[in-house]
Amino acid sequence: MSLIRFDNTDWEDASSLQQTTAIKALEQGQLLLFPNLYQKLTETQYILLDPKCLAPNAKNISLKPNAALVDGAIADTAMQTQLTTLCRTYASHATRLVQQLLPSYSKALIPGRTSFRPAAVDQRKQSPRKDDRRLHVDAFPSSPNQGKRILRVFCNINPNGEPRIWRLGEPFPEVAKRFLPTIKAPFPGSANLLNTLGITKTKRSRYDHYMLHIHDTMKMDETYQRQVNYEEIALPALSTWIVFTDQVSHAAMSGQFMLEQTFYLPPHTMQRPELAPIHVLEHLLAQR
Ligand SMILES: [Fe+2]
Repeated sequence: MSLIRFDNTDWEDASSLQQTTAIKALEQGQLLLFPNLYQKLTETQYILLDPKCLAPNAKNISLKPNAALVDGAIADTAMQTQLTTLCRTYASHATRLVQQLLPSYSKALIPGRTSFRPAAVDQRKQSPRKDDRRLHVDAFPSSPNQGKRILRVFCNINPNGEPRIWRLGEPFPEVAKRFLPTIKAPFPGSANLLNTLGITKTKRSRYDHYMLHIHDTMKMDETYQRQVNYEEIALPALSTWIVFTDQVSHAAMSGQFMLEQTFYLPPHTMQRPELAPIHVLEHLLAQR
């Protein structure tokens, strides 16, 4: 089973059984779906549900932690402020949810960007490498994470009741076994060079190199995309879901208007660190 449902309407009183179940499911690569949990928009925030507020070439409108204003928006100052408030409110909502549901992670979680995604997924024209309608695991070319997990909290805020359609592919160890043998080791010195040239924000580790190439190779492999087994799921409007997107092979096929919060988690803080992609890759490559 690729997803597990939690029907609570809030998480003030998450039971320890629910907390244990949630962590176990997440670490095993399941998606946690909360069909009754979403961020309510104010009346003025409904005006923001318009893809025209996206800057040209921007995929999302996003807010860095502690930033004053969002990036990626083409809007006047008042609207930029409103978009910033939307993202900031969602960041608090997502943080509260993970603290209540995943308390053993909460001290170690590092907040990343919050994003608002107003574009319709099925109308975006993207190169195969950037096309999130192809199955992939997340890896960020300019933001190496040196093995930290990528935990994401999504919320479908579609006002017309449209679900977000995702596909979930094969488990991470299968993905890694399939693609790792096709990927060459990084050139000596390439991490320093990429960092010096400003292509990466920090040094791209060996882990980041392999994850990025798995991401690209998966997306570019037409036969794999056509033939691999997947499950298609509908993530309803006004629902929330949490998933380790560095581990779960996923593709976003359709949907419009979503909020998303990224967190990073050091793998040693997991209940079962051996399930983290870094340890799966270390095992397959027989190296640290
Ligand atoms: Fe993704």
